[in-house]
Amino acid sequence: MSKSTILAISGSLRAESTNHNILKYLGDLIPADIHYSIYDGLASIPPFDPGLDTDDAPFPVVELRRLLTKADGVIICTPEYAFGVPGQLKNMLDWTVSSGSFSDKPVALITASLSGEAAHAAMLLILGALNAQVADGAKLIIPFIRSKMDGDKVADEETAKKLTEVLETFFNSI
Ligand SMILES: Cc1cc2nc3c(=O)[nH]c(=O)nc-3n(C[C@H](O)[C@H](O)[C@H](O)COP(=O)(O)O)c2cc1C
Repeated sequence: MSKSTILAISGSLRAESTNHNILKYLGDLIPADIHYSIYDGLASIPPFDPGLDTDDAPFPVVELRRLLTKADGVIICTPEYAFGVPGQLKNMLDWTVSSGSFSDKPVALITASLSGEAAHAAMLLILGALNAQVADGAKLIIPFIRSKMDGDKVADEETAKKLTEVLETFFNSI
């Protein structure tokens, strides 16, 4: 049987991003028989243009769609900016509407931010529009995230426990 493949996507482009560090932390928890990678192409995705939204879309978009198709599940970990989804993440997701890349795909959604409630709700609407499958226990908001991390370690015990539970539910949904 081939290995399961999980694609992890951070909504933050910041070096030392807490969201990126959470994805690194989750990678350490994931069993070795699962292929886990953190997407590194977000900054290269061009502005969404419906006129270019074909099978022959710009290369970074074709590559993103290829990675999503190959993935058995996707973990998205994102901050909130100005009470919304970070622009570049939303832009990336817009390129996946016509391709159906998220359709029926199990997704775990973690919103790790100062607050995060508005972005989390918006992300759930977007993922619904994309027909992604987000199980009830595979959604988590982590407020005051910066006080809960120590580099790529989760310093807060309660948060670590919740992340483990999200992973368990997510893997049960694959
Ligand atoms: C432009 C900007 C806008 C922000 N707006 C919000 C916001 O509306 N709600 C919130 O919870 N945090 C907001 N924050 C704070 C982020 O949650 C915080 O910087 C977080 O650590 C970013 O994630 P990262 O560490 O993965 O980069 C904002 C940060 C920036 C840079």
